[in-house]
Amino acid sequence: MKMYKIAVVPGDGIGPEVMEEAVKVLNRVSSLDGSFQFSFTTYPWGCKYYLENGEMMPADGLDILKQYDAILLGAVGYPGVPDHISLRDLLLRIRHDFDQYINLRPVKLVKGAICPLIGARTEDIDMTFIRENSEGEYSGSGAWLYKDTPQEVVIQNAVFSRKGCERVIRYAYQLAHKEKKTLTSISKGNALNYSMVFWDQIFAEVGKEFPDVKTYSLMVDAASMFMIKDPKRFQIVVASNLFGDILTDLGAAIAGGMGLAAGANLNPERTFPSMFEPIHGSAPDIAGRGISNPLASIWAASQMLDFLGHEDWGAKIIQAIETMLVERISLTPDQGGKSSTSECGDALAGLLK
Ligand code: NAD
Ligand code: IPM
Ligand code: MN
Repeated sequence: MKMYKIAVVPGDGIGPEVMEEAVKVLNRVSSLDGSFQFSFTTYPWGCKYYLENGEMMPADGLDILKQYDAILLGAVGYPGVPDHISLRDLLLRIRHDFDQYINLRPVKLVKGAICPLIGARTEDIDMTFIRENSEGEYSGSGAWLYKDTPQEVVIQNAVFSRKGCERVIRYAYQLAHKEKKTLTSISKGNALNYSMVFWDQIFAEVGKEFPDVKTYSLMVDAASMFMIKDPKRFQIVVASNLFGDILTDLGAAIAGGMGLAAGANLNPERTFPSMFEPIHGSAPDIAGRGISNPLASIWAASQMLDFLGHEDWGAKIIQAIETMLVERISLTPDQGGKSSTSECGDALAGLLK
């Protein structure tokens, strides 16, 4: 029997609520399958841990996580701890130090999900975002000079390395080639005269290796407009760290909301574990009430199954999410239902065969 060692970092706010349901579904999958099992170990790292210990995770946190086959993460950040500390010292640290340079975020309108766009059909909204996840605008490099004086200056550097751009863009081309889809690059070369001109150049260079892939290049402002007005333009999309962050929240909004949006932080070489998470945050406005939607976390669990080579189960989970939405089974309030987080997770687990 194959045993997968999974580290679970539920984090803050609704993180623990939704993670519990993802674990429930994965246990159901392994018991139905019979050829593999999960061994879950939970780490209580996050804002509460910070307030008690002065750090978001222990000094050897990454050494601990490195021993696992994959990481499941709930959400990080809570009022009481500055976001730039909580996020940079835990979530962004794991993404960066484990070289999870691919952030793969499906923007797929499943049947039955609420879409605010008039007349949009499910087949019109079916994109995969490949977001650069290790550098760019999130490099963390900068300075705060003459702090608290009238001369105060802050500098936030965006770092675009050749290696960093090539690898994420090549990954996106490979996916477009494999899935016979178009590839759209998101840029802003008209204003960002170093970083985005370089990005566009590398997009064109790497494209020479993939003559069969039909490409488009859009400015990020125009892309956000087209995602609303004509979402079927987009299939595979590659974007820098910040542009990908912003556009995937927009993507979530047109594909059923934050309660359905998942993301995989991948280290494709498998030198380090990859990490799977809902893309939403800790939702302090609804935390502790048992009404958060666990389907985004469960979708992230399906991405983990895909990554571990169990694509059949990954697909069955997405199918079950669709069934729940179409037949309106045990949905949480964000989807117009009345069910609790755990009732929603129970129903999904029960639909799997
Ligand atoms: P958020 O995603 O937590 O919440 C935005 C809105 O979406 C809220 O109204 C919330 O109730 C709703 N929502 C989110 N997830 C939901 C779910 N599963 N079910 C139902 N409704 C859901 O974003 P925010 O309010 O900007 O951030 C709150 C905290 O989370 C901040 O500290 C922020 O930095 C952090 N954050 C963390 C992550 C992460 O860990 N990956 C992502 C985004 C934000
Ligand atoms: C996300 C989040 C994070 C990001 C924040 C919380 C640092 O918004 O995963 O989309 O910007 O990457
Ligand atoms: Mn985000």
